[in-house]
Amino acid sequence: MALSFEGRVVLVTGSGGGLGREYALAFAERGASVIVNDLGADTKGGGKSSAAADKVVEEIRAKGGKAVANYDSVEDGEKVIQSALDAFGRIDVVVNNAGILRDRSFARTSDLDWDLIQRVHLRGSFMVTRAAWNHMKKQKFGRIIMTASAAGIYGNFGQANYSAAKLGMLGLANTLAIEGRNYNIHCNTIAPVAGSRLTETVMTAELVASLKPEYIAPMVLWLCHEQCQENGALFEAGAGWIGKLRWERSQGCIVRQKNQPMTPEAVRDQWDKICDFTDATKPASIEESVQSIVGVLSQLDSDGEVGANTTAAAAAASVSGVNPTMAVGQKLPPSTFVFTPTQCILYALGVGMSTKDPDHLRFLYEGHEDFGCLPTFGVIPSQAAMMDGGLSSIPGLNIDFTRVLHGEQYLELYKPLPTSGTLTSEATIADVLDKGSGAVILLDVNTYSGDELICFNQFSVFVVGAGGFGGNRNSEKAKAPLPPPKRAPDAVVIDSTTRDQAALYRLSGDWNPLHIDPSFAAMGGFKAPILHGLCSFGFAARHVLRQFAGNDPSRFKAIKVRFAKPVMPGQSLQTEMWKEGNRIHIQCKVKETDSIVLAGAYVDLHGASDASPENLTQQGALKSELVFAEIGRRIKDTGSELVKKVNAVFGWEITKDSKIAAQWTIDLKNGSGSLHKGPYSGKADVTITVSDEDFMEVVQGTLNPQKAFFSGKLKVRGNIMLSQKLEVILKDHAKL
Ligand code: NAI
Repeated sequence: MALSFEGRVVLVTGSGGGLGREYALAFAERGASVIVNDLGADTKGGGKSSAAADKVVEEIRAKGGKAVANYDSVEDGEKVIQSALDAFGRIDVVVNNAGILRDRSFARTSDLDWDLIQRVHLRGSFMVTRAAWNHMKKQKFGRIIMTASAAGIYGNFGQANYSAAKLGMLGLANTLAIEGRNYNIHCNTIAPVAGSRLTETVMTAELVASLKPEYIAPMVLWLCHEQCQENGALFEAGAGWIGKLRWERSQGCIVRQKNQPMTPEAVRDQWDKICDFTDATKPASIEESVQSIVGVLSQLDSDGEVGANTTAAAAAASVSGVNPTMAVGQKLPPSTFVFTPTQCILYALGVGMSTKDPDHLRFLYEGHEDFGCLPTFGVIPSQAAMMDGGLSSIPGLNIDFTRVLHGEQYLELYKPLPTSGTLTSEATIADVLDKGSGAVILLDVNTYSGDELICFNQFSVFVVGAGGFGGNRNSEKAKAPLPPPKRAPDAVVIDSTTRDQAALYRLSGDWNPLHIDPSFAAMGGFKAPILHGLCSFGFAARHVLRQFAGNDPSRFKAIKVRFAKPVMPGQSLQTEMWKEGNRIHIQCKVKETDSIVLAGAYVDLHGASDASPENLTQQGALKSELVFAEIGRRIKDTGSELVKKVNAVFGWEITKDSKIAAQWTIDLKNGSGSLHKGPYSGKADVTITVSDEDFMEVVQGTLNPQKAFFSGKLKVRGNIMLSQKLEVILKDHAKL
């Protein structure tokens, strides 16, 4: 299919003549809106005229194309880009082409000869590109061309100033390619050879006539097209030939010996070997380049000098771009998520809910009396911060974000999610781990409604190839996956995804083309676009919610999963569940292949009567409710340990206005311990009766329990000695 630039806005600097004019005409012919920028200077940078640009604009318009002229110097980059925004409202492509020559042998190069060349070529390209950068970033599309020259690549007599500027532009392009790639901004460099007024002094008239600029333009157009994925490369072109360049590095040679000084003589003696290109390597990134050098340190110094390993690790960190000391604790810019019931319903459909199941209606119909939001929707507001490419702006995380895999996910809700409103999320780098083959970034995200904390997410992101920086392998901040029990599952639910499951799920905010674009998926090594890991996660969570919590979202507390393998849309998911108290272990398989896709996963539910803090405060009256909710959480975490220490059942009667307002049972005798609201079914070992107010005072440490007992504020029935053991569970509660 023909390459079209319809809808694209293209700036070609210095397009009043020569190569630039040819590019402008070619872009316009294929539908682009073109800004023809030219100062109208002579070849040495003197003079000024609007005629050159105007003439090209007229040519384009005469052919029915869209173009406007701009006469600013590229040194006024902001003005040049502003003219694109004024005329066409956006900027998609920048071809840095403007140029002049002030050739002199090096000894005769004046300050002005030097400065003018740097200003027009290098500084001009910087000014124009910087002015366009944020617009490209926001729209997540940009194509940039830098025009270098053979004079820079190889050197050329009389062009010291020009060579320096031209290769300076290559260095600039190399870094822009890295900083832009997450935003679909690609930057490539060309070194053209063509007849123009710049070359007519060095080429014969015949050559100038035959090396036509139109033999260069098609390459520029391809590099600037949205289909072209080339980034950070250098091309030579002329006469219809195009070639790509890269660096080659000799195998080289270590000229230093363990525990010995390095000498110039050793360098001399190995010089032939250092310069021998047999079996040369082709390092393509700074990581590849420097890692091999750092490797020499461990080869030579590992068991000899103290601290050599640390040096190697530090050096490796600085080159692989991962530096945990810099990154950990850094915050991403807060993100805001505004939503209505539409988003909740769209999400529910995205994770396979259907009106076929009457009980799903409460998640699909905003008019339903129990209309609510699926708990796993809690990942959606929090991922907005990451989707904006926020991670790439974190110092110490200078890594290739095209090689990122979603490894694990933890979500905890502190109250049921609202079905509309504005939520803000704050993300912090909790830790960065070195897994050797890659780095794992733990990103903790707290999501608030106003000041109220609604939920917590921990994203565990695996970056392939970013390991080896000498960091920790594990972190206590990580929410760990847990293996399921060995017995057969207590329940199994099989559910099919549809062919369009990923196409539907992505509308909830995960726009990664991997899940919709076949060619993008192919680049990642997949036969077809794959389902979002978080979509399978949503399926599994709702299976648990239906099986063990009667589809009541307020029963949901937390979920953890590890994404083990991809799922293809249309495959069936088989969720296997094991109930262990309020924790439901899960494992999710693709039914057709029997491969495990969600591993080490579990859902924590609130017990049917062990009400969440949300429900408690709604009932409102008793302050002690919150303390019991916290005790319940602790029992869940350390119950088995407490059962060993305490081995007793405590009954509680909390009074309000001299009447029993609530009864609680703290069972630290059976199983791994539990808390429930209500009296104990058997006989409690000890029962304590206390008013809500006095209970709070005891907990806060302002009322001594013994005094409370002797003054009759606290009554104890049963084994009074056991009440002393209560300290174990109550003593840390002062901060409540
Ligand atoms: P050209 O002289 O025909 O085109 C350069 C254009 O840039 C001129 O129209 C000029 O008015 C404009 N210009 C100069 N200073 C400007 C400024 N400050 N702001 C805006 N516009 C300005 O030359 P040609 O050959 O078409 O060169 C285009 C680019 O290709 C240049 O960067 C040149 O260095 C580079 N190049 C050309 C080669 C060739 O064989 N023609 C070889 C290697 C590089």
